[in-house]
Amino acid sequence: MIKLEVDLGERSYPIFIGSGLLGQAGLVRPHVHGKRALIVTNEVVAPLYLAQLKGALGDVQCDHLVLPDGEHTKTLATLGTIYDKLLADRHERSTTLIALGGGVVGDITGFAAATYQRGVNFIQVPTTLLSQVDSSVGGKTGVNHPLGKNMIGAFYQPQCVVADTDVLASLPDRELKAGIAEVIKYGLIDNLPFFAWLESNIDGLLVGDKTLLAEAVKVSCEEKARIVAADEKEGGVRALLNLGHTFGHAIETAMGYGTWLHGEAVGAGMVMATDLSARLGWLDMDAAARAKALLQRAGLPVAPPSGMSADDFMRLMAFDKKVQGGKIRFILLRGLGKAVIESGVDATLLQQTLEAGDNLCQR
Ligand code: NAD
Ligand code: GLY
Repeated sequence: MIKLEVDLGERSYPIFIGSGLLGQAGLVRPHVHGKRALIVTNEVVAPLYLAQLKGALGDVQCDHLVLPDGEHTKTLATLGTIYDKLLADRHERSTTLIALGGGVVGDITGFAAATYQRGVNFIQVPTTLLSQVDSSVGGKTGVNHPLGKNMIGAFYQPQCVVADTDVLASLPDRELKAGIAEVIKYGLIDNLPFFAWLESNIDGLLVGDKTLLAEAVKVSCEEKARIVAADEKEGGVRALLNLGHTFGHAIETAMGYGTWLHGEAVGAGMVMATDLSARLGWLDMDAAARAKALLQRAGLPVAPPSGMSADDFMRLMAFDKKVQGGKIRFILLRGLGKAVIESGVDATLLQQTLEAGDNLCQR
């Protein structure tokens, strides 16, 4: 087992990564401070892993709530069902919420924990690659709004994160690829050696090689923990973690939540950000093509949806949380592994990227 630390002073917490952690008695238990807990999970994950997790919680009086599956359920209405359950079962302030599932369950449960009785403890047990490498770490919690992704939420850190890499074996291929998009993101942001490692190992990752996946989760969590520790509430450097997300969130909203997976939209969004960086002259076209090639080998979309116009993007990107004074701020590349935040992007070049379709990152 690997143990990393998210260093946030009195809100610091460990990330445990390894095989067989879910059923390991004594691992999660010390992080449940009261006598009661509510495990929030969903209809896909519950039959696979709920009993195992409950079994590892020993003497904790453990209720559970099984949510419907899917990104379209990440709403205020679903959040209401968590409050209903907590109140109906008389959970007090000393309770702990445990999120067992992917990023949807993790984000919504974290927000319920942030707001129930003004804040109760919570624990992340991420079960998708995407949630193990990204969403379970760092304390961003929340739900979607019809006008924009993750528009309602809170920064709220968990007590610990337990990433059992064995659970990735039951993940559908499409979900594995979506998680790999966020892994590639760390390489592109600031870790060129990791990007090169991914180029060498992408085929093994795609067939679910356990050792390679564990290494990818470890490096990704190290990256994320370091950036979150430096800038918990996204005053600066944390915004780099949004590489591809300004375009990607617009795609998710335009297509209807869940039509494109989050990782798929981020994959196409990273190709768009790379293309714009190349048009600005910050990245040579060979490097841009190299980034696109890795995302393509990972089986991710490398062009926006054909039905989305430049106007659609501009309308939806105006809701991005990085917008400041009405100006969209993009995360762009000054080289592979050198992401920067940029607000003054030339409108003509942006329009060219939005209209490039299948020809992104080509001479
Ligand atoms: P998800 O939670 O919808 O899970 C994907 C699918 O896999 C679901 O159908 C789920 O039921 C299923 N599943 C989960 N674990 C499984 C397992 N072990 N075996 C088989 N099936 C399993 O999606 P996701 O990709 O995990 O997360 C995407 C969400 O995370 C989005 O809402 C996105 O906005 C959010 N996100 C949040 C952050 C953050 O910092 N909070 C970061 C990135 C993404
Ligand atoms: N996934 C972006 C962040 O956590 O900041």
